[in-house]
Amino acid sequence: MTFKQPDLPYDLKALAPFVSEEQMDYHYNKHHAAYFKKLNGLVEGKPEGDKDLDIVVKESTGGVFNNAAQAWNHTFFWSCMSPNGGGKPSGEMLSAIERDFGSLETFMKKFSDSAATLFGSGWAWLASDAQGKLEIMPLSNADTPLKHGKTPILTLDVWEHAYYIDYRNERPRFIEQFRDVINWDFVLKCYKGQS
Ligand SMILES: [Fe+2]
Repeated sequence: MTFKQPDLPYDLKALAPFVSEEQMDYHYNKHHAAYFKKLNGLVEGKPEGDKDLDIVVKESTGGVFNNAAQAWNHTFFWSCMSPNGGGKPSGEMLSAIERDFGSLETFMKKFSDSAATLFGSGWAWLASDAQGKLEIMPLSNADTPLKHGKTPILTLDVWEHAYYIDYRNERPRFIEQFRDVINWDFVLKCYKGQS
């Protein structure tokens, strides 16, 4: 197999009650796994198969891009969460958020609103540019800041498959609970380019 789905950084039930074991099982073992399987089928015997996944995301289009990006995005998303997450970012991350959004509360409101109003399937992202300026990017389907020359800092999957078992049609309630599991240590590492 060319690209291998990384292990979840925690147990399937570790993020409950934000997401149940059943929800995480479907998301990780069915949806995320399927993107790797489809990607491997598409790149078999082709030069893409020898590249790093983020390079394939940046360089590809069509079906290869869709599956490579979804494979990469989910791996990143798992790391954005932790059973020990929540609370507030500290130090450098909090300063950057306050500089670019005014306050943590304003940022959280804008991030949640962008996730709630994203039409159809997609991802709400926090990204930074080369100068370290932060930006909220609501992107459709598999799209990712990597494709826009930006560095992903934080993301929330708002495809229905991310929440439908636990929240049914209530995407805003899912978004609200996300705050309790954000892995701010990982977010800071991404911001400092250390992830
Ligand atoms: Fe997903």
